[in-house]
Amino acid sequence: MVARWILFSLLVALCAYHFYREKPFTEDMVRGKRILVTGSSMGIGEQIAYELARMGAHVMLTARREKQLQEVVQKCLDLGASSAQFVVADMSNMTEAQKVIKETKDAMGGLDHLILNHVGKTFPFGPFQWDLEQVIETMRVNFFSYVQLTLSALDMLQESRGSVIVVSSMAGRLPSPFSVPYAASKFALEGFYSSLRTELRLLKAELPITVAVLGYIDTDTAVNVLKGKTSLSPSPKMECARAIVKGGMLREREVFYPYWSTKPIIFLRDWMPELVEYLTGRAFQVENIAQKRDP
Ligand SMILES: NC(=O)c1ccc[n+]([C@@H]2O[C@H](COP(=O)([O-])OP(=O)(O)OC[C@H]3O[C@@H](n4cnc5c(N)ncnc54)[C@H](OP(=O)(O)O)[C@@H]3O)[C@@H](O)[C@H]2O)c1
Ligand SMILES: *[C@@H]1O[C@H](CO)[C@@H](O)[C@H](O)[C@H]1NC(C)=O
Repeated sequence: MVARWILFSLLVALCAYHFYREKPFTEDMVRGKRILVTGSSMGIGEQIAYELARMGAHVMLTARREKQLQEVVQKCLDLGASSAQFVVADMSNMTEAQKVIKETKDAMGGLDHLILNHVGKTFPFGPFQWDLEQVIETMRVNFFSYVQLTLSALDMLQESRGSVIVVSSMAGRLPSPFSVPYAASKFALEGFYSSLRTELRLLKAELPITVAVLGYIDTDTAVNVLKGKTSLSPSPKMECARAIVKGGMLREREVFYPYWSTKPIIFLRDWMPELVEYLTGRAFQVENIAQKRDP
């Protein structure tokens, strides 16, 4: 009974804090800013680019597919971007990650915000394959390239007093069955960037880092991968992109989207791991998820 009251009071306090903490966000925070968005040929990254374009940013896009990037650049210009360009690069190659930052510098003369969003598509959604190569490849694209991009851009970001925005996932906070290598890469991001944030603060070096913790979002990739395998319903990618941009520009430590299906369950994680595991299990239709290993 007492425990229940404590939990209830804490939840009320959490809600109050959530609404109290809302700060004003204005388009001036974006207009004229030079912003690099990775993984922006489709999905959430594409929507982030449009959101920034509408508010008049200079956007630099990157991904592997040139034709898609050309289309997104054109749409950014139509929406009102101060400028829009792209660089084709594969984030499994760290030389290419360095090249992205160099081309950004050559094209825009500096960088105000680095939005790290890309994610490799190599992993299948299903039982872990006991395949080390798959884990290494996932870590390369989803984690090491983020580190490379950040350290290559560090000088420019410090010069502009800019910030880094990292797109993470519930899979970076909670155990995530059927996407084991992906979850490992997202946990790695969370550990790296939250430790770095604290270290820089202690050293009085100013580099705000925003980590966006996302639930299930209706991008083509996610919906195709999870179709028939989850009972959750996806949230709109455009609203998601807006939440990431807003939190990033306000230099918040973290963004939770959608708030009510991410924050409360993360809040329970270390107190009631069995409950969290039970709820996670309920979110998947395990009978529809392939049990066999790839040959
Ligand atoms: N959708 C969700 O439900 C969900 C939930 C939680 C977190 N998130 C996170 O949100 C972010 C975006 O997800 P999304 O659903 O929008 O993904 P998506 O639609 O599949 O887009 C992934 C982007 O990454 C690029 N990419 C993939 N492999 C690459 C590589 N090797 N080198 C360079 N670029 C590469 C893709 O472009 P190319 O193919 O042209 O290279 C594409 O632009 C990710 O960090 C993801 O973990 C998504
Ligand atoms: C990595 O990218 C560089 C520059 O684009 C290229 O020269 C090199 O061959 C690539 N490495 C691999 C292993 O593909």
